[in-house]
Parts: sequence; C-alpha cells; structure tokens
Amino acid sequence: LSHLSQGRTLGVCLAFCSVSWWGGVQMGPPDPILGVTEAFKKDTNPKKMNLGVGAYRDDQGKPFVLSCVRKAEAIIAAKQLDKEYLPIGGLAEFSKACAQLALGPENEVLKSSRSVTVQTISGTGSLRIGANFLARFHPGPHDVYLPKPSWGNHTPIFRDAGMQLKAYRYYEPSTCGFDFKGALDDISKIPEQSIILLHACAHNPTGVDPRPEQWKEIADIVKKRNLLVFFDMAYQGFASGDIDRDAWAVRHFIENGHNIVLSQSFAKNMGLYGERVGGFTVVCKDAEEAKRVESQLKILIRPIYSNPPVNGARIAATILNTPELRSLWLEEVHGMANRIIKMREQLVAGLKKNGSSHNWQHVIDQIGMFCFTGLKPEQVERLTKEFSVYMTKDGRISMAGVTSGNVGYLADAIHAVTK
Ligand SMILES: Cc1ncc(COP(=O)(O)O)c(C=O)c1O
Repeated sequence: LSHLSQGRTLGVCLAFCSVSWWGGVQMGPPDPILGVTEAFKKDTNPKKMNLGVGAYRDDQGKPFVLSCVRKAEAIIAAKQLDKEYLPIGGLAEFSKACAQLALGPENEVLKSSRSVTVQTISGTGSLRIGANFLARFHPGPHDVYLPKPSWGNHTPIFRDAGMQLKAYRYYEPSTCGFDFKGALDDISKIPEQSIILLHACAHNPTGVDPRPEQWKEIADIVKKRNLLVFFDMAYQGFASGDIDRDAWAVRHFIENGHNIVLSQSFAKNMGLYGERVGGFTVVCKDAEEAKRVESQLKILIRPIYSNPPVNGARIAATILNTPELRSLWLEEVHGMANRIIKMREQLVAGLKKNGSSHNWQHVIDQIGMFCFTGLKPEQVERLTKEFSVYMTKDGRISMAGVTSGNVGYLADAIHAVTK
C-alpha cells in the first residue's frame, strides 16, 4: 500500500511540479568583455562608443567584410560545392596554406614535413586542442607560464584542459611598456621543460611587443631553460600591416632550433570572426614524429567536434591560394593596420590639443588592435558614466572602435578624466 501511495505522490509531482536538477548551480559572473557590450547596447547616448570588444570597424564604425572575402565567397558559390564532412584534421589545402603563412613557404620545417597542422575552430579552438594535447602528452611539468597580463581566455582554456597556470613579468605600468628585464629574470627561473606561452605579435591586452633584439634574448633564455614554446598568433598582419614582419618571432624561434607549437586565427586578419577558422601546428623532430603526433591530434579532436566546419576554411584557402585574392588581402590587412595606427596618432594629437600634461607616447608605440591606456579603474568608470565610453576595467581600449568621427570626442573625454 505504501508503495502505491508513494508512487501516486511521485506521479502527482511529476505531473504538476517541476523537478529541479540544477538547484546547486550557482549564478556565474558575466563575461568581462561581452558584459561591456551588453551595457553599451542599453545606453541611449548618441555619442556612445564601444571600445571593449576586439573586432575591427571601418572608419564609419561599421563591421568590415574584406573585399577579398566577398570575392572568395563568389568563387566558392559558383563552384556549387557539396557540404560533405571534412576530414578530422580539416581541409588539406587550408592547413597547408595556414602553416606556410606562419612559417614562410620556404621554411625547412615544411620542406622536410616535420610539422603537422590541423584546421581548428579559430584561435580559441586551436589553443584548446593544443592545451588538451599538452595535458595528454607533454613529458615535462604541466605548468603553463603566461605573460602578466595575458588575454583573459588563456587561463580558463588551459585550466579547463587540466594544466596549471603560472606567470612571468611582461608589462611595466610605470612606462606602459615591456618589462624586458623582469621578463628575462622570471623566464630564467622557470623550471626546465615547462611550457611558456608567447604572443607572437600585437600582445593582447597591452599592445606591447618585444623588439627583434629582445626576442633574440628571450629565445636564448628559453633555449637554456629547455622550455616548450606555445606561440599564440591571433593577429598576424594586424600589428605592422606586414604578415612576414609579424611572424618574425615565430620564424626566429624555429630557426634557432625550438620545436614550437603554434595557434593561428583568421578572425582578425581576414575579418572571419564568426566563421571560426584557425590552425594548430606542432613542429616535430622529424617527419616520423610528425605522423605520430598527427594521429594523436585526430584522436583528440574526434570526440570533441568530430571535424571542423568547412565554409570559413574554404574562404581562407581560396584567398591564400589565389594570387590575385592574396595580393588584395595583403593590401586590405595593410589598410586595417594603417587605419589603427592613424587613430593612435590622432588620439594623441587630440589629447595634446586639449593641453594634456601626460606623456601619451605609449598610445603610439603600442601595436595592434589594443591600447593599454594606463587609465585607472575610477577613470574608466567616469569615462563610462559621464561620457558613455565603454571599455574593460583594466583601461584597455580597442583602437579598432575609434574612427575619424569619434576620435576627437574620445580625446576630450580622456582628457576630462585625467587632468
Ligand atoms: C591573444 C588572442 N588569442 C586568441 C584569440 C582567439 O580568438 P578567436 O577564437 O576568435 O580566433 C584572441 C581573440 O581575441 C586573442 O586576442
């Protein structure tokens, strides 16, 4: 009888009450960058500026689709291609072109087939596949040393893959520049065979990159410590406007005998943000090692997303492998980088015109999409509250959101909160 009545109670409850499975799930904090966009959307001030998110805008402040992308899309559409699954490692002509772009087509590593590149779900997916690969196979300590500060997503990517996060000094707040001595000091003490993450160019969030002579010294110390180098190259072409110049550090390390791993993204330099196109490369001792690594990368990828999406890879491969589109792309990357450099100069000119007594040279010296202004959290708060200028609390602004039309307003606003 008691069984019967219990059954009836449960039956009534199943019919009328909703059962909670997730009562123990706590509310999580909003994403710091996407949270800025949410607040921006609600603001009704016509002069509002969103300098939080790192996505390129044209001089009218509009999202920008590159002409080479439009042309590649037309070529692909005309071919009436099928929508079959890609192989686990992605589109072969994409992966090949992706590695050539980073390493240079004449690189000995490529000629001797001692590397493997798989297509990934943009830079984030590449970093995560890399992190999973290291968690499973890295023979040394599972500690990843990040520059301080680093892109906010690096920590959860490596942590969720089961790695431990450590840091080395990178940014010097007093100069808004590179803490070269601090970085060398810290790197020289990293336990042997640990992993060091390096931003290949256009360091996010600081916009501060080592100079070539400094890179050389970093490469030497990293060699002495026998560290595994994980390069994150999310901005090739975006720093200087020149894809080869921006890949200099990656190529230098390889030339000096570092068998690096490398993440690439085509979100920024081709404006393919939502297409999610990227690559993960492992440079190996020889072709036989590369084959073994490739087999294990496939085993890792298969149960995560089976195989990558085809559309973006077709677009990127068409651009990289069609000479006219490739030269158009190089011009357009150059154009994007130059517009950002111009905005840096105009922002500083505007601050000077306002009579600002601060030294804003770092705004010009920093590189890539972001500028680490040095603004304090209370100044950032005033910029948002009083001027509707939105940015992350660390004072980072995306220079890509600054235009000829609003750079004057931004200079006035920054001057107002810093005088
Ligand atoms: C340093 C760095 N790495 C990787 C990424 C990855 O971006 P995505 O996954 O959009 O390619 C970004 C994007 O902001 C970044 O700044």
